[in-house]
Amino acid sequence: MQDAQLESLAREAARVAPRHLRDLLSDENRYARWSHRAGPVLLDLSKQKLDEPALDALGAIAQACGWEARRDAMFAGAVLNASEQRPVLHTALRAIESRLPSPAPQAVRDEIDATLARMAALVDALERDAAGDYGIPAGITDIVNLGIGGSDLGPRLAVEALAASHTGRFRLHFLPNVDGHETAALMRRIDPKRTLVLLVSKSFTTQETLLNGRVLREWIANAYGGDDAAAAGHFVAVSANVAAAAKLGIPPERVLPMWDFVGGRYSVWSAVGLVLALAIGMPNFRAFLRGAALMDDHFRTASWRENLPLLAALVGVWNRNALGFPAHGVIPYHDGLAELPAFLQQLEMESLGKRVGADGAPVAQSTVPVVWGSVGTNAQHAFFQALHQGTDVVPLDLIGVVRPAHALKDNHDALLANLLAQGAAFALGKTFDAALAEATSGTDDERRALAAQRTFPGDRPSSTILLDALTPESLGALLALYEHKVLMQALLWDINAFDQWGVELGKTLAKAILPALVDGDVPAAFDASTRGLIQAIREKS
Ligand code: F6P
Repeated sequence: MQDAQLESLAREAARVAPRHLRDLLSDENRYARWSHRAGPVLLDLSKQKLDEPALDALGAIAQACGWEARRDAMFAGAVLNASEQRPVLHTALRAIESRLPSPAPQAVRDEIDATLARMAALVDALERDAAGDYGIPAGITDIVNLGIGGSDLGPRLAVEALAASHTGRFRLHFLPNVDGHETAALMRRIDPKRTLVLLVSKSFTTQETLLNGRVLREWIANAYGGDDAAAAGHFVAVSANVAAAAKLGIPPERVLPMWDFVGGRYSVWSAVGLVLALAIGMPNFRAFLRGAALMDDHFRTASWRENLPLLAALVGVWNRNALGFPAHGVIPYHDGLAELPAFLQQLEMESLGKRVGADGAPVAQSTVPVVWGSVGTNAQHAFFQALHQGTDVVPLDLIGVVRPAHALKDNHDALLANLLAQGAAFALGKTFDAALAEATSGTDDERRALAAQRTFPGDRPSSTILLDALTPESLGALLALYEHKVLMQALLWDINAFDQWGVELGKTLAKAILPALVDGDVPAAFDASTRGLIQAIREKS
């Protein structure tokens, strides 16, 4: 943002700051004015600490930044990822389910449609246990998704969230980490001859995925008396690097493409979602795309005052840059959404964790807050104490599902009651006077000391997001909402949301350290601390 825009936000913040959320919420129209719906998703911003003039100021900044032009450019395939000279076309992956005509290039649409058809054919063959034409043996019962980051988080979240929509045809496993404990445990649990490994890596250079791939390949080959060709039949690859997959002996019919125009953290809609399609079946996978397309259509057509992704972005900018909050909590009140905070950590922090713009100059304001969280009500019994009474304020997204996929009404009512109670408690708090009135015994000083400890400052903002039910459609819409929020924040913060140079240095160093850790010399070029730690590990291993 420009200096004048930041100054306008600072002026608004100074004006709003003295108004407690209690005061803002005394307006009977607050909920009606500040809550908005797109299909199965309700976004209620009435417990955010801002008023109409502040929203107007934010809207004026979005207009001046050209939010509609940026949105339309993305959908049309403009090169938004400037540092890698790539268009950003994850929305084209679900355009087939959109009600609006897609402005994405026809060649891209054709490739996507062809891949979706290949995916459907493979899922169908596996479901019927008739994938011999692909070179996959009969009797597959277990699917292992081998991928990390965007090749893991989105598919894993969706598979867990949509448990109620599972066909039950396969057992699904995820192996993101290079930590051999999990790999070894998985190999003990499942039968190699009945396992299909989905090697999912956009780059096909990711150490964790390739190493686990080698380990599983050998494990399967051993089950065939060392026959590596037989083991190869248990592998399907999803990658933008089709040639590298071929080098591992995975033939083209078992390689589904990914593309440079889809970022890893935006890729669950592509063949990266194969494990999800195997979990919920292709019709449900299409419904997942439909939900995202619904949010895309909303984003493309709703005015700024009713546009969920834009409003979510503006509120995030307000909390970060006007009110100065450095963290953002995500609390889903649904165990199926337990992986949502981790998914959003990658989506938001890998996309927006930047400190310079495309021209290399430092940005004018803070960018992404620390995103973290875990499921409610568990979180209430862990870290909510600090959120209610600690010295720092953490704005929250409280996410609930109105209709559960079970008949345990008392459980669900209690879950939702807690969600609503927390939002109200964070906003309204409990005054010192109210706490004092409750302290009936002791001296005056003792009563006052206790009351101070039992006071809740309140004035702590949250958004409430309600899904009508947790279905493929609503989950698709929810994830697309967050994707577009990120696009809009990147625009306002003047950064590229689609590269991730910050992950490279550690990868390079790990490659250099590995030989030293195993047996080689410890190069003097490493710093003293790292050399010391390498020696310490070698001495004890
Ligand atoms: O290290 C970060 C990252 O590049 C992510 O952006 C990506 O989602 C993940 O690694 C996995 O990458 P790949 O799909 O290429 O294996």
